[in-house]
This record gives sequence, structure tokens and C-alpha cells, in this order.
Amino acid sequence: MNKTLTALLLAAIAIPAAHADTPAEIRSQAFKKMLLQSFEPMGMAVRERAPYDKAKFEQQAEAMKTLAAEPFKHFPANSVTGKSRAKPEIWSQPAKFQADRDVFLKSVDNLAAIAKAGDLAVIKKAYGQVAQNCKTCHDAFRGPEK
Ligand code: HEC
Repeated sequence: MNKTLTALLLAAIAIPAAHADTPAEIRSQAFKKMLLQSFEPMGMAVRERAPYDKAKFEQQAEAMKTLAAEPFKHFPANSVTGKSRAKPEIWSQPAKFQADRDVFLKSVDNLAAIAKAGDLAVIKKAYGQVAQNCKTCHDAFRGPEK
């Protein structure tokens, strides 16, 4: 076998190992991705640590809709493994967990709609509501760091 082919095969084997594979890892990475790619960049503008750019903020708020929904696709039963901070209440009180998720996702939709008008004072309130909804769910359903 020539060297190039060997290298290609090894690369193909190495890729899956570098990715998250348990649902707990997948959802944790999805939460982090949302935080880094949209929630925190918007937060910089909201806290006036970075200039507010209407078009950019609109894009980040729009991207947040998809990014925010993603982690919630990865909460199958019995998936508290490794360093997962998911509390058992997620599965013993599924209606409350889903309600918290839905209120949160609605506030994310609202922020994206508000962003289009470009009024920073109104945006700050809508952003604050989203942040409050993160906290409400974390207080009820996310345990301490392990
Ligand atoms: C409806 C519930 C819910 C909402 C809303 C929610 N989270 Fe979480 N979040 C969780 C749970 C549960 C975990 C733990 C998942 C695990 O470790 O298995 C988590 C984990 C995370 C993590 C992964 C790293 C860590 O410290 O555990 C980050 C980052 C995070 N959330 C940020 C946010 C932010 C930012 C928001 C709002 C913009 C948010 N979350 C909204 C439930 C929620």
C-alpha cells in the first residue's frame, strides 16, 4: 500500500474518534456552540463591550433559532453519562422540561424578530428574557459541574 493511501485511511479512522459520540457529549457541545456562535457574540453587543452592528446582530439572532433547538434533540432516556450535568428531573418531569424549553425557544424567536427593527434598548430587554430562560431551566434541570 502506498503511503498516501495509508495516510488517508488512518485519517478516516481518526475522524470519528475526535467527534462527540454519546448523547450527553453531543448536547453539551451543541449548547457550547450556541453560546459561542450566537448567544455570547450578541451578549457583547448588548453589554456594549462590542459595537452594535444591526445586520450582524440580525444574523446572529437568526442563527440562534437553529442553534438553540439543536441540544434538545439529544436527551434520550438514560443518557446521564460521563460528565453530564443533566438532572434526573428532565425525565421524571418531562412536561416541565418541555415547557421550559418551549418558553426559551419562543423567546429566541422573539429576539430574532425584535432584532429586525434594530432598536438596541428593545433588543436588550428581549435578550435579557432569553438569558432569564437559560437560568430558569438550569436552576431546575442542570446539576453542578463534575
Ligand atoms: C430547557 C432547559 C435549558 C435551557 C432553556 C438552556 N439550557 Fe443550557 N443546559 C441544560 C442542561 C440540562 C444542560 C446539561 C446537559 C448535560 O450535561 O447533559 C445544559 C448545558 C449547557 C451548557 C454545556 C456546558 C455546561 O456547563 O454544562 C452550556 C454552555 C449551556 N447549557 C448554556 C446555555 C445557554 C447560554 C442557554 C440560553 C441561551 C441555555 N443553556 C438554555 C438545559 C437548558
